[in-house]
Amino acid sequence: MTHVLHRNPGLDYACAVRGEGAYLVDRAGKRYLDASGGAAVSCLGHSDRAVIQAIQRQLERLPYAHTSFFSNEPMEALADALVARAPASFDKVYFVSGGSEAMEAALKLARQYFVEKGEPQRAHVIARRQSYHGNTLGALAVGGNQWRRRQFEPLLIETTHVSPCYAYRGKQAGESDVAYADRLAFELQQAIEKLGGENVIAFVAETVVGATLGAVPPVTGYFKRVREICDRHGILLILDEVMCGMGRCGTLWAFEQEGVVPDLVAIAKGLGAGYQPIGALLVSQAIAHTIEDGSGFFQHGHTYIGHAAACAGALAVQKRLHEEGVLARVAPTGRLLEAKLRGAFGDHPHVGDIRGRGLLWGLELVADRATRRPFDPQLQVHARIKREALAAGLLCYPMGGTLDGRQGDHILLAPPFIVDEAQLDELVDKLAMAITLEVHT
Ligand SMILES: Cc1ncc(COP(=O)(O)O)c(C=O)c1O
Repeated sequence: MTHVLHRNPGLDYACAVRGEGAYLVDRAGKRYLDASGGAAVSCLGHSDRAVIQAIQRQLERLPYAHTSFFSNEPMEALADALVARAPASFDKVYFVSGGSEAMEAALKLARQYFVEKGEPQRAHVIARRQSYHGNTLGALAVGGNQWRRRQFEPLLIETTHVSPCYAYRGKQAGESDVAYADRLAFELQQAIEKLGGENVIAFVAETVVGATLGAVPPVTGYFKRVREICDRHGILLILDEVMCGMGRCGTLWAFEQEGVVPDLVAIAKGLGAGYQPIGALLVSQAIAHTIEDGSGFFQHGHTYIGHAAACAGALAVQKRLHEEGVLARVAPTGRLLEAKLRGAFGDHPHVGDIRGRGLLWGLELVADRATRRPFDPQLQVHARIKREALAAGLLCYPMGGTLDGRQGDHILLAPPFIVDEAQLDELVDKLAMAITLEVHT
């Protein structure tokens, strides 16, 4: 009997009691290899001494001081550290407690920027189908995950959704990456023209799409085309790097690999690495200065923003990434994981696509490889694989609705950056077992 309203009250959840590197251990002593970092959170595994000690030290000095009265040392140091490693156009960081809050802050700041700039008619946001930006109402509204949105639709602000950059399903036979990017850019251009470019606040996208599509990187040149179009109309580019940022894709910022610089960037999961809840919004100078020189006040805020212990933990994460070489492990370890995934599943009759970047990988499952036909959604293949993997002691992140919120299944993998080769082998072996059992029985 539990008094907790669990995510799925019908399920009997094991109770996690301990973390050991890449593993979680439940009360019965069962060990689980965490191959998804929960949901791409735990980039340093579950027992990083440096991060834990930094949080403990901070708690002993100062756990919390409300940001309407005080700044605090770890918050200032963390903002310095993030800005120092961001493109020169970024100047400020707004701290929150998670990814949805970072996206809410992005939407409100973008709107306030235009109000203060004397363009209050800008009221529309364009985003992409099959994206996820969080579960609070603003973030849910810009998100394009049909299943998550459906019952809350009457409460959501109107958003225009365009196609995602999803080469496996979206690119036509014989179409080059350039032509595909052009076609998507044209669709965005048309959506903007329909609304009137002067009425649009921002275009919102995940740089690498995480949970909803399953680790889908853009084709080369896509974001450059998007940036050009946004610039032409004075529209802000908001990139959601809550999942794909902070080293997950092999560079601190996923957008570094796209050759573009956004105006606002939301980060969260890998920022705190699971040790404390924290998210942040990187803010360009132009936006920050407009507010500073205008009302002087960002009309937003939550009780726990800039939490000292959370910032101290995230600062220690940054040190581990940059000063102790953990970030540099991501690209080579990611290549190793890719090779192992292609070796194990490259010819698998039910794995239609293997895609990803750094240590964020996705396997799209299909009933028929040749036609790319998805499984019947009623089979709930993704849920069955999750169950099977859990039974085998593997945490991965399977999701359904890959194509349209209803059809399609994929498995997301996001192991910690400290994962070793033996653990990658364990990951692939256990995943192969879970897929085989579920897909063939
Ligand atoms: C890309 C992206 N944006 C936003 C969010 C929301 O973050 P949170 O669950 O911390 O509110 C998520 C969470 O999965 C995400 O993957």
